[in-house]
Amino acid sequence: MKIGTISDYINIKTIIIFTFQFFLILTVLGYHSWKDRGGECLKCHSDIEKMTKLGYPQFYVTQEMIEKESKHPNVRCQECHLGNPRAKEPDKAHKGMLSVLLVSEDGNILKRKDIYPKPLIPSGDDMIRKMLPQVEYEGKLYPHPDVRNVLWHDRDPITFNYDPAITKKTCGKSNCHPAETEQFHTTIMATNFRQRTMTTWLNPYGPQN
Ligand code: HEC
Ligand code: HEC
Repeated sequence: MKIGTISDYINIKTIIIFTFQFFLILTVLGYHSWKDRGGECLKCHSDIEKMTKLGYPQFYVTQEMIEKESKHPNVRCQECHLGNPRAKEPDKAHKGMLSVLLVSEDGNILKRKDIYPKPLIPSGDDMIRKMLPQVEYEGKLYPHPDVRNVLWHDRDPITFNYDPAITKKTCGKSNCHPAETEQFHTTIMATNFRQRTMTTWLNPYGPQN
């Protein structure tokens, strides 16, 4: 009995199906890569005139600034922030974007735009509260009364815990730091395990050890 050979199956129909599948895969992959490589975040944020016209010169950011501040050469906004780097309007671009979480007294996420559109930079003399949004009262700075806490964008906005799913899409991407993030996921710091028992950051037994 003859063992089937591939050539028996090749006819015009299978060739058409194969070619169609090939281009379909190429289109899907190509679309994702095209979308990921968009440069609209940078185009808008590094245009000081445009940012001033939109009312937010404080969020002027350039490629040089992010490379220098993060020590990541050639990094793009979306690699850390996600969002839609092909969208030309702020609201569309910011959809699904990760950014700082301002937490209210009752544990809800506050809208940055409504509560504190100013730049978030260390201010005031109180070391512990320097990174909290500040308001001025009689010439002195005080923590913003509506903001209980500031969390960075690696958190789940519901539980406020570190969210490994976010890291998988950002720092832990396959061409960035997958091994480091995988290792981090089992640490005391990532799991919030027994941190109450710690009295130092490093030694003899702290979360950064
Ligand atoms: C057409 C201009 C424009 C584009 C495109 C744009 N932004 Fe913005 N961005 C703004 C403006 C204006 C603000 C301040 C108002 C606001 O929050 O919407 C802002 C605010 C921000 C903030 C701080 C606000 C917050 O919620 O903490 C971050 C972070 C940010 N943008 C990142 C990005 C990233 C990443 C992209 C691309 C995926 C992007 N932006 C695309 C104009 C733009
Ligand atoms: C290496 C990672 C990384 C890259 C790349 C990056 N950012 Fe950020 N960015 C952060 C982090 C972390 C913060 C702190 C707030 C938070 O948790 O999102 C931040 C904060 C910001 C803020 C808010 C500043 C404030 O005063 O609160 C803006 C606006 C912003 N980024 C825009 C951009 C734009 C535009 C780009 C691209 C040109 C970019 N970022 C690239 C990580 C990054």
